[in-house]
Amino acid sequence: MNIVGARPNFMKIAPIVREMRRRENDFLPLIVHTGQHYDAAMSDSFFVDLDIPAPDFHLEVGSASHAVQTAKIMTAFEPVLLEQKPDWVLVVGDVNSTIACALVCAKLGVRVAHVEAGLRSRDRSMPEEINRILTDAISDLLLTTSQDADENLKQEGIPAEKIRFVGNVMIDSLFYNLKKAESSTIREDLDLNGKDYAVLTLHRPSNVDEKEVFSGLLNALVSIGEKLPVIFPVHPRTRGNIEKFGFSEKVENSNIQLINPLGYLDFMRLYSGARVVLTDSGGLQEETTALGIPCLTLRDNTERPITIELGTNHLVGTERGKIKQIAFEILENKNSKKDAKIPPLWDGHAAERICDALLEIY
Ligand code: UD1
Repeated sequence: MNIVGARPNFMKIAPIVREMRRRENDFLPLIVHTGQHYDAAMSDSFFVDLDIPAPDFHLEVGSASHAVQTAKIMTAFEPVLLEQKPDWVLVVGDVNSTIACALVCAKLGVRVAHVEAGLRSRDRSMPEEINRILTDAISDLLLTTSQDADENLKQEGIPAEKIRFVGNVMIDSLFYNLKKAESSTIREDLDLNGKDYAVLTLHRPSNVDEKEVFSGLLNALVSIGEKLPVIFPVHPRTRGNIEKFGFSEKVENSNIQLINPLGYLDFMRLYSGARVVLTDSGGLQEETTALGIPCLTLRDNTERPITIELGTNHLVGTERGKIKQIAFEILENKNSKKDAKIPPLWDGHAAERICDALLEIY
């Protein structure tokens, strides 16, 4: 039983379900969608782009406070689990749906595997960090994307036999869909073909829920916009805060171009042609590293240090000066990380290794 809930889950589950369906003698995959994300642009379009079969169960929980959302997912998921009695439940990533479903499984004694286990930002003010630590503590199989994650888990006392370094399933989706994304017309639609442009995403509560922090970030981004257009597909919570904090005029008068959230293929086509990506997303730090595109992470920490050590990522914090400095260095080709590498096992075959691990333990 494969759990999805929020946008960053869909591209992780797609290759796993595809591989399970390919091995039809060994697997009968079911999909449960919690409904944490529900807008067409945040959910349905990903099922279409990634060719994910329609969910077998839809819990339709929607948005709420963390406590209410987590509790609603648990309450709605428990009867499905009791009725279906799967051999394994797979949870991915670090969203509220991940911990909610893992916790239900642990209490009912159903085996749960966590894909993307062991990542740690060491910042417990991030809701995702709490979700990561707790999900790992109660999972039976911990499937990791990088070896630093294995070390984190061992340091937390998780026995080595529960941990499998399988690589990055998000990169399976990326490589699988690169060719398909070429049919997207998003660059033409936005009149960007042949031009230098930056891509921006921003949705972490720590960046967009506090007026001061968000305002400082915007100042830096407006300055970068003086050098090249900054294309900004806006997450719903971020759009709401731009309006609430009275930033709309500032954005309109800048070279930052707000657009609606994009589907998987359009977004891939957009960022794969960018001169630089600026983001507070976890997944995009990995995707830019896999494609060799410079990335500025607008946070003070990252749970994905390998994208800095080996890849194209720069951790620049939220201070205007540092963001501008690194961005301008990249634009002037003075800080391009030319020797960047794709991390080990980010090779498009992680889903196969995940299925192997499930069978091996079964
Ligand atoms: C969630 C994840 C985060 C992930 C992000 C990707 C948690 C704790 N957070 O954050 O790790 O990076 O998804 O997007 O699970 N909303 C809509 N339409 C939707 C969904 C949400 O308008 O389809 C709005 C609602 O106003 C909602 C707000 O966005 O209150 C926040 O949504 P929520 O799912 O609570 O958290 P995200 O910020 O999306």
